[in-house]
Amino acid sequence: MGSRICRVQIFTAPLPISPDSSDRAGWIRFAKRIVHPFIDNRATIHFTEYSALLRLRPTMKSFENKTVLITGGNSGIGKATVLAFAKEGANVVISGRRVAEGEKLAKEITSGGGSALFVRTDVAREDDIVALVEKTVGTFGALHIAFNNAGTEGQFGLLTTEQTVEHYHQVCDINIRGVLLSMKHEIPAMLRSGGGAIVNNSSVGGHIGFPGSSVYVASKFAVIGLTKTAALEFARQGIRVNSVSPGPVQTEMLDRGLR
Ligand SMILES: NC(=O)c1ccc[n+]([C@@H]2O[C@H](COP(=O)([O-])OP(=O)(O)OC[C@H]3O[C@@H](n4cnc5c(N)ncnc54)[C@H](OP(=O)(O)O)[C@@H]3O)[C@@H](O)[C@H]2O)c1
Repeated sequence: MGSRICRVQIFTAPLPISPDSSDRAGWIRFAKRIVHPFIDNRATIHFTEYSALLRLRPTMKSFENKTVLITGGNSGIGKATVLAFAKEGANVVISGRRVAEGEKLAKEITSGGGSALFVRTDVAREDDIVALVEKTVGTFGALHIAFNNAGTEGQFGLLTTEQTVEHYHQVCDINIRGVLLSMKHEIPAMLRSGGGAIVNNSSVGGHIGFPGSSVYVASKFAVIGLTKTAALEFARQGIRVNSVSPGPVQTEMLDRGLR
C-alpha cells in the first residue's frame, strides 16, 4: 500500500449514542474528508470509546521526544502555543527578536522540568533562519514540527490609496518572506528527521477583506497560497503543511490595532 494510511482510529461517544460501526465505507469517506486524503480504502478501522482515551491522558504526553520550533514564540498566540507544547512534553524552540521575553519564557519552562531553548531570530533575515534551524537540530537532534507564527500588522487604518512601498516591505518581509524562508529551511531539516508537520499562521484576514488593512490582508492571503503549494510539493515525502486562520485574539497585536 506504499505510504498510504492503513489504520484509522475512531474515538466514539459512549453507548447508546455510539455511531454505527458497521458502515465501514462511510467511516473511510469521513476519515478521508476530515483527517487525511491518503487513507487507503482497505484501511482497518478501530473503534474505541473516548472514555478510554481520557483514562490514558494523565500518563500520556502527546509530544514527548518531539522538537517543535515556534516563530514569534515570545508573546501572544506564539507564547500560548509554546506553553501548550511544553506541557505535552515537547522540546520547544522559541524564536523572536525580543531577547528578554524569549529567555524568560525558556527559563520558566526549563525550571518547571521542561525542555526549551530561545534563539533570537528576525524572520525577515535568511541567515537568522538558517542559524535558528541549525541551532534547533544541533541542540535537540531533529526538527519535527514548526509553527510559523511570527507576524506584524504594520499599521492598521491606511486606505489602499495611502499605502507606501515602505509599509508594504515592513509587513510583507515578515508575514510573507518570513514564512517562505522559514519553510525553505525547516523542510530539509524535517526530511532528515523522517518527516514532520508545519502550521503557518494566517488569519481570518487571509479569507476576507478588512478596510484599512489591504497590505496585512494581502500578506495573510499569501500565507495560504504558500501553505497550499508547499503542502502539495512535500506531502508524498511525509511533510504535512497546513495553515490556521484565527479570528480576533486578545494579544499585543490586537491591543495595538485597537488603540
Ligand atoms: N491577535 C489576533 O487577533 C490575530 C488574528 C489572526 C492572526 N493573527 C496572527 O497571529 C500571529 C501572532 O500574533 P499575535 O496576535 O500573537 O501578536 P503578538 O503578540 O504581537 O505576536 C507577534 C509575534 O511575532 C514576533 N515577530 C514580529 N516580527 C518578527 C520578526 N521580524 N522576526 C521574528 N519574530 C517576529 C514578535 O516577537 P518580536 O517582536 O520579539 O520579534 C511576537 O512574538 C501573527 O502572525 C498574526 O498576524 C493574530
